[in-house]
Formats: sequence, structure tokens, C-alpha cells
Amino acid sequence: MTIILGLESSCDETAAALVTAEGRILAHRLATQEDAHRPYGGVVPEIAARAHVEALAPLVEAALADAELTLDDVDVIAATAGPGLIGGVMVGLVTGKALAHATGKPLVAVNHLEGHALSPRLADPSLQFPYLLLLVSGGHCQLLHVRGPGDYARLATTIDDAAGEAFDKTAKLLGLGFPGGPAVEKAAARGNSRAVRLPRPLLGTDDPHFSFAGLKSAVMRAAQSGQHSAQDIAASFQQAVVDCLIDRTRRALAASPGVTALVVAGGVAANQAVRGALMTLATEAELPFVAPPLWLCTDNAAMIAWAGAERHAAGLVDDLSIPARPRWPLDPDAEKARGAGVKA
Ligand code: KG4
Ligand code: ZN
Repeated sequence: MTIILGLESSCDETAAALVTAEGRILAHRLATQEDAHRPYGGVVPEIAARAHVEALAPLVEAALADAELTLDDVDVIAATAGPGLIGGVMVGLVTGKALAHATGKPLVAVNHLEGHALSPRLADPSLQFPYLLLLVSGGHCQLLHVRGPGDYARLATTIDDAAGEAFDKTAKLLGLGFPGGPAVEKAAARGNSRAVRLPRPLLGTDDPHFSFAGLKSAVMRAAQSGQHSAQDIAASFQQAVVDCLIDRTRRALAASPGVTALVVAGGVAANQAVRGALMTLATEAELPFVAPPLWLCTDNAAMIAWAGAERHAAGLVDDLSIPARPRWPLDPDAEKARGAGVKA
């Protein structure tokens, strides 16, 4: 039995997990920093990095204790090496390097996005490559063909904000609190999704990409007008995001003959309206729909351990000199999207 220790520290969750190469989750531990960042209404990189330093080693010990294992039983060390807040990424990667060096076990430096991208195969072992993936998180909104570990073709990305970022900014504008996504979903459940007319940027266009900046500005105007309840704005915003995600995904599906499934991953995949609409789209396209359970959608270390398992099985291990990378696209050959700034 091959056992992989996974470490995650790229944003505001510190996590450690133990997963087998067969996809059995032996232990997963997570410490969220939500309370530390809440007063600022967003993640503060310096606070995040310090909190990772304090939390990570005890979480590794706790995960090992949960699984009744010691470091000697671990075969592979997998750590997120980017993309993300560089201070936090360095904490996890240096910890992984130190553990690999001390134990003589191989290190796999994992792209956080690959952790999300492969997590559906941990949730559903029958899921085969290639699949069409909608990767929707706080920093990314992409459509990808997932062909295998380290083998991605990006069909679309956002030309401005990520979907999760739009949820977070909307929550802030409406005073719904932090973290934003779950707060907007909760408020939306008590609102009317047709109460506020909001734009659906790029809907129906030939352009394959996403855009949410115009929607965010419209939400701001609706909030400032004082004519609508926060619940109605939240519900109308969520519906607009769903409509954009579905339209762009439908377009990508039409350009994806031979995919085995429609798959969603990343923090926004925890949203029930998003999941429901994608399920309907997959049924229309006569494809299976795969979405990881909610805890595996948001940041965690089980997905990092699993990506480490897949890469290790494919012979992809790393040198201890590998650097932490604040930016790290899954498909380095993808063309830059029109108007896109620094986002990968
Ligand atoms: O994947 P993730 O945990 O971290 C990143 O790698 O970015 O995604 C976090 C994002 C945040 O923007 C958060 O607001 C959003 O996922 N999110 C949600 C929900 N839960 C988390 N967005 C909408 N509805 C949710 N229930
Ligand atoms: Zn993430």
C-alpha cells in the first residue's frame, strides 16, 4: 500500500491529509483562518503566512495520529507549490521539502489547480480521462480538458474576475460577511432571482471566455439604489453567475467530442445552484456529471495528496530545488485571453 501525505497552504486554509494510491482517505485535517481574516473582509497574506507556520506541523501530527501511522509509514510527500499567496505556499512547500529530506521519501510538488482538477477522480474512481472540467474557485474560472496528470488543455478562462471573487465582492457590497460565497448562497435562498435585472457578460457570444466585472458593477449600482433587498440582489446575482457558467460550459461541451463526463471542481462548486444547473446541462448532453462532495470542493489537503498520488504513479516526482510559484498555469501553452491581465 502506497501512502501519500498531502500539505496545503496556498490561501487561508492550512491542511494535512493521508491518502492511499488506491484513493482511500486515511485522515484529513484542516484549520481555517476565517476568524483571523474576517475583520479585514478578505485574506491578508501576511496574517495567512504566519497562521500557516503555526498550524501546519500540528495538523500533520494530528493526521498521522488519526490514521494511527507514523512518518515512517508514509511513502510520498506531496505539497502545494503554487499558485497562491507566496508566503503561504512557501510554508507548505518548505515543510514538504524538509519532511522529504529528513525521511528520504520522494517529494511531489503539486499545482493547487491540479489538486482541484483531479479531486473528482478521488471522489469517483470510475471517472476516466479525458473529461471536461469547469474549475471555479476564488482565483480561477476555467474550462479545461483534463487528459491526465500534468496534461491539460485550457479552452476558456476569465478575462477579468473569477466567479468566486465575484461572490466574495458581492457579499462585501451587500454586507453579508466573510467568506462571501456561502453567505451569498444563504441570502439568495430567501430572495427572488428575477427581482433585479443584471447583465450576463459574454452570454451567447463566440468568445469562449468568462467575464464577471460588468456583473459586479451592476450589483454595486443595484445595492446603492436602495430599491432592492440584499436577498433579492444576492438571488439575482447568483442566477446571473449560473447563467454565465452554463452558457460558457455548453459552448465548451459542443467543442469537446469524446469527453467521458462533465466535471466541476473548486470552491464555487460547493454552490447548490451551480451544481444543479450543471447536472441538468450534463443530462441534456447525455454525459455523466461528477462533482466532489462539498468539503472536497473547497481547499483541502486530500486533493493535494491525491494529485500527488496520480503524479507519483505517472513517474512525476520533483527535486528538492523546485521553487514556490505564485502563478502557475495548468496549460502553459494556452493563448492569453483577450483583455486578460495577469491571471493564468
Ligand atoms: O477553491 P477555493 O476553496 O479556494 C481557492 O483556491 O480559491 O475557493 C474559494 C472560493 C471563494 O471565492 C468562495 O467564496 C467560493 O469559493 N465559495 C462559494 C461557495 N463556497 C465557497 N461560492 C459560491 N457558493 C458557495 N457555497
Ligand atoms: Zn482552491
